[in-house]
Amino acid sequence: MGRRVLVTGGAGFIGSHLAEELIRCGHEVAVLDNLSGGSAAQVPAGVRLYELDITEPIDEAFEDFRPDDVVHLAAQVSVAVSMQEPVMDARINVLGSINVITAAQRHDVRRVVYASSAACYGALEEGMLREDMRCVPASYYGASKYAVEHYLHSARQASGLEWAALRFANVYGPRQDPHGEAGVVAIFARLLLDGGQPEIFGGGELKRDYVFVTDVARAVALVLDAELEGCADPVFNCSTAVGTTTNEIYAHLKEACSSDIEPTSAPWRPGDVQNLILDNSRLKAVVDWVPRVTLEDGISRTATYFSSLD
Ligand SMILES: NC(=O)c1ccc[n+]([C@@H]2O[C@H](COP(=O)([O-])OP(=O)(O)OC[C@H]3O[C@@H](n4cnc5c(N)ncnc54)[C@H](O)[C@@H]3O)[C@@H](O)[C@H]2O)c1
Repeated sequence: MGRRVLVTGGAGFIGSHLAEELIRCGHEVAVLDNLSGGSAAQVPAGVRLYELDITEPIDEAFEDFRPDDVVHLAAQVSVAVSMQEPVMDARINVLGSINVITAAQRHDVRRVVYASSAACYGALEEGMLREDMRCVPASYYGASKYAVEHYLHSARQASGLEWAALRFANVYGPRQDPHGEAGVVAIFARLLLDGGQPEIFGGGELKRDYVFVTDVARAVALVLDAELEGCADPVFNCSTAVGTTTNEIYAHLKEACSSDIEPTSAPWRPGDVQNLILDNSRLKAVVDWVPRVTLEDGISRTATYFSSLD
């Protein structure tokens, strides 16, 4: 049965795809976003947009929309910004998230699904990362994302609020910001289509786990409905469990953008970590989900999207 779902950050890259997926699933959707990163044009037609900041009072959205569930995606999303301005990062990602969680408690929300990140893990573990491994975030962004998982544990103990966190791997696809510092597929696609020369950090042999945005949106929608009773630690990697190097991404993009431009190389940036490949068996055990979009197809769809904007 359809429910009322409030999506914070729903005007952004992942949030706008999620809003579309939730509507497809029969839910009624509203978006809470301050439009600092996203845009009203990305909010699907007919979806209410509450233009509010999660660090300020947000009760009016809860009073007006009366959500059954909340998906909390609104965040400061840049690792580099978190390293330069950790207080600002924590104000949005930690205090803003506590504001969302406590509003959900005050307004009798059933479940909060939270967008966590592979950045929680840090650089200590090699091989496939599993949810039960120790997290030692290598960036303030990772630390802020991880902190909120703990607040959600506490909120469940305090008031019975149901919750789940999805630790997204590297999400890519149409509508990703090509001017940010993360999101290598969007950044390279935009540059190659404009005839620019992308920079590859640290030799390009670093492996990341690239998951297409519509697969992520489907996973979030399924977790919203999943039976989580008895799940003591409802934290789920959302990933393909396949590692791909930056150089491989670049090669696929060159083909998708019909480009012969060679990249330049640059040193590591602070907060960057080594290989990040996330085991996804815990997610697959609770919901009927597998990533459907292959890397070739996803990169081609992303390149087609960016070239259609020209
Ligand atoms: N893109 C990825 O690869 C990735 C990976 C791991 C986790 N995540 C998480 O997924 C979520 C969505 O990320 P995205 O890639 O779609 O980024 P995005 O920047 O496109 O979306 C974030 C949205 O949050 C909004 N926002 C930011 N600060 C806000 C505030 N103070 N109040 C209200 N709204 C605010 C922005 O306007 C934007 O629409 C974030 O929580 C991010 O940390 C993303």
